[in-house]
Amino acid sequence: MRIHVLGSAAGGGFPQWNCGCTNCVGLRAGTIAAAARTQASVALSDNEGHWFLIHATPEISAQLASFAPLHPRAIRDSPLAGIILTNADLDQWLGLLSLRESQPLHVYATDSVRHAVTKDNRWYRALHRTPGQVTWHELKLHGSQPLLTADQRSTQLVVTTIPIPGKVPLYLEDDVKPHIEDNVALLVSEMGGGPCLGYAPSVGAPDPEIERIVELADCLFFDGTFWSNDELLALGIGAKTACDMAHWPLGGKNGSLAMLARSSSRRIVIHINNTNPILRDDSPERRQLKQAGVEVAYDGMEIVL
Ligand code: MLT
Ligand code: MN
Ligand code: ZN
Repeated sequence: MRIHVLGSAAGGGFPQWNCGCTNCVGLRAGTIAAAARTQASVALSDNEGHWFLIHATPEISAQLASFAPLHPRAIRDSPLAGIILTNADLDQWLGLLSLRESQPLHVYATDSVRHAVTKDNRWYRALHRTPGQVTWHELKLHGSQPLLTADQRSTQLVVTTIPIPGKVPLYLEDDVKPHIEDNVALLVSEMGGGPCLGYAPSVGAPDPEIERIVELADCLFFDGTFWSNDELLALGIGAKTACDMAHWPLGGKNGSLAMLARSSSRRIVIHINNTNPILRDDSPERRQLKQAGVEVAYDGMEIVL
């Protein structure tokens, strides 16, 4: 399995267009040791070159352009076999609307995520220029299913879907009740065994399922949105804590880093908010990650499992 990180930041990216925090200002000025990042998305392929994206971000066009294996092979012939969504936040799926050039799309998501994206969404009709342009594949909780080639044959990759603490997307908070399918983690492995990739970019709170994913994954991408629970409050940005936003912060006695530190497999944080001090290569918080053996995802990161 080959994994290529197309984007590693949380919604808004790094720097974020309207943000004057120390990180964003320092990155623009070139005065901090940090790299720009686009919104979190990972491309993965089996050994036969069938490519899948986890997330379709608002920056998908640039992200696809940045990686030659995702360039078209012939006229109107994308190597992209499918797109997988782990929740229905806009930074995860808004890029679908940028893929409306009559290319058949295969999208893997839970029913609850599919509803959030498609129901009462008149812009979604832009993805129905041709009959059957989008095919949804239901991710069943606790189920394992093969990822399919563009012509619907099984690839060697099997995905297992695990519900984890999360929340409904912001834009639906007043409309829909929370549902167990709102936010999932993925385990991806090759048929018949072999190393296992874990993907959990939005983790709302500690949970036994999280412990199990950490245990099972040989390489795990994990929620690195915030370092501290009051990160935004301390900067005077809004009134929400990290936990209010369903992102378990990394730092502190009860932070996710303490849990990640107990594992000996490869652990990489992703979906990093622009305010997070771990974005600076030389910050004390970054040093704590390093001491725990936890890596920080960056755009262009390559992993072969
Ligand atoms: C999140 O990760 O919490 C969401 O992407 C926030 C948002 O939708 O702006
Ligand atoms: Mn997000
Ligand atoms: Zn910022």
